[in-house]
Amino acid sequence: MTHSPRLPHACTASAGVNFALVKYWGKRDAAQNLPAVGSIALTLAAPGTRTTVRFDPDLAADQFTLDGVALADPGVSAVLDAVRAAAGLRHRAEVVSHNSVATAAGLASSASGMAALGLAAWGAAGLPVEDAAQQPALVALVRRGSGSAPRSLLGGLVELDRETGEVHQLLAPEAWDLAVVLARASLGPKKVKSRPGMAHTAATSPYYAPWVEAHPADLAAARAAIAARDLPTLGAVMERSTLRMHACMWGADPPLRYLKGRTLDLMDAVEDLRDQGVVVYYTMDAGPHVKALCQASDAEAIAAHLGAVPGVESVRICRPGPGAQADVQWL
Ligand code: PMV
Repeated sequence: MTHSPRLPHACTASAGVNFALVKYWGKRDAAQNLPAVGSIALTLAAPGTRTTVRFDPDLAADQFTLDGVALADPGVSAVLDAVRAAAGLRHRAEVVSHNSVATAAGLASSASGMAALGLAAWGAAGLPVEDAAQQPALVALVRRGSGSAPRSLLGGLVELDRETGEVHQLLAPEAWDLAVVLARASLGPKKVKSRPGMAHTAATSPYYAPWVEAHPADLAAARAAIAARDLPTLGAVMERSTLRMHACMWGADPPLRYLKGRTLDLMDAVEDLRDQGVVVYYTMDAGPHVKALCQASDAEAIAAHLGAVPGVESVRICRPGPGAQADVQWL
């Protein structure tokens, strides 16, 4: 493919984080970064990432700043290289990124980060940014950066297909009045990043094969619950999916544990609310934080309850949001 003769001045893309309701953990193809299992996630309006990319013939090397700090990140250059190859472009790029969520702390910053970077670079290279999730080459390069990132290309409830690695929307963000209460159980980065964590689990956990095997049933149950807007059924699938994923990690040798005591306290608090009749369910990713899924109308009360759990750093109410959006700037 060759790029259009006129290169845009720059492209700014924003993407919200997404949280998996039915988790993925493990790869079936490391080079393509294809997952061993499918996943279903909810993309949020915020927090997220906003990234501007500008290709510049006068630059000698790629430059990247994240929240004002210059970083040398091979992952960023790998995405830029893939975009340069797709566009037939040689220029180096300036990348300026802002994250509204802590990086590498199990808050899925890599997903919004990679979706925003991939889309901004794509647009800055003059490649089409409409229907980003329909473009296999763009989806593949975003996925190589972070396995869960393609889900942030689409809004609302999104499924990532195990076979193709592509994403499709199950429900638009405005179609179901949901909220996620994000309770931060600790500050600081996680100890083991998800990619080596997945490889270690797949290589050493006797529970890995059963996890993969049990997965299609959870996906099917979640799809049906979403179609019926049945939150109790979806919530039950969501809780068992996260617990099975963590059980699989705990079975690794040596064990891999991202959950902390405060995480369990937050899970108890969610269950207490449920005992009182509140429709709310928890999920945790590769970190100690708890995301509680609920009806939007219950979110304030749930946030107050979870925020009162000792040691919880902060709570934040998040709403479903759109897929990644790009703004191409021409001179
Ligand atoms: O996006 P990755 O490849 O770093 O993997 C994220 C995996 C989990 O967040 C733990 C689960 C998921 O499906 O998002």
